[in-house]
Amino acid sequence: MKITIDDKTFEPFIEYSMIEKRIRLIGIQMNVDYEDKVPVFIGVLNGAFMFMADLMKEIHIGCETTFVKLASYHGGTKSSGMLTEEFPLSMDIKGRDVVIIEDIVDTGRTLKFLLDKIKSLEPASVKVATLLLKPEALEYQFDEIEFIGFEIANDFVVGYGLDYKNLGRNLQDIYRLCGQQLPG
Ligand code: XMP
Ligand code: MG
Repeated sequence: MKITIDDKTFEPFIEYSMIEKRIRLIGIQMNVDYEDKVPVFIGVLNGAFMFMADLMKEIHIGCETTFVKLASYHGGTKSSGMLTEEFPLSMDIKGRDVVIIEDIVDTGRTLKFLLDKIKSLEPASVKVATLLLKPEALEYQFDEIEFIGFEIANDFVVGYGLDYKNLGRNLQDIYRLCGQQLPG
């Protein structure tokens, strides 16, 4: 069923049952990859809160969890390219195995900014897990993106942590903007 959020209409895109299945598989892969380690999972607020919560329930090795908050755009459907650190990293990650948890990598500007920051803190390793990836929008090549939920087309999406004008984060499923309405 279509839904309306503020001035835009969205249609069902990825059902929660699909998200759950994908997260279970990513969890299995992480449990193997980090078997002998105690990784630090860094969730990127706000969007990654649901993905982080569900993913952490699938992690059965010792690990630490923390969050950072960045802002890359201000409420609309387009990235402004302006980045601010609203809630910086509060943990010492020197020599640690870090996994950044993102809701979506679109142009990659946010991730580039974050990776540069994290790397300057000298972790032992850094990998990225993103629920969604828009390959056509990507402006950088990242070797760190190890875990991907779904590769999607260049459509604006909401739900499962992702917002439109800060609304819709609570939706269990992911929806995409109807038709090819040009986002404004
Ligand atoms: P970049 O372009 O820096 O974007 O990779 C990453 C951040 O921008 C937001 N973003 C979206 N949010 N639906 C959303 O609700 C989308 O389709 C979308 N694309 C990008 C998001 O905050 C992400 O962390
Ligand atoms: Mg957002």
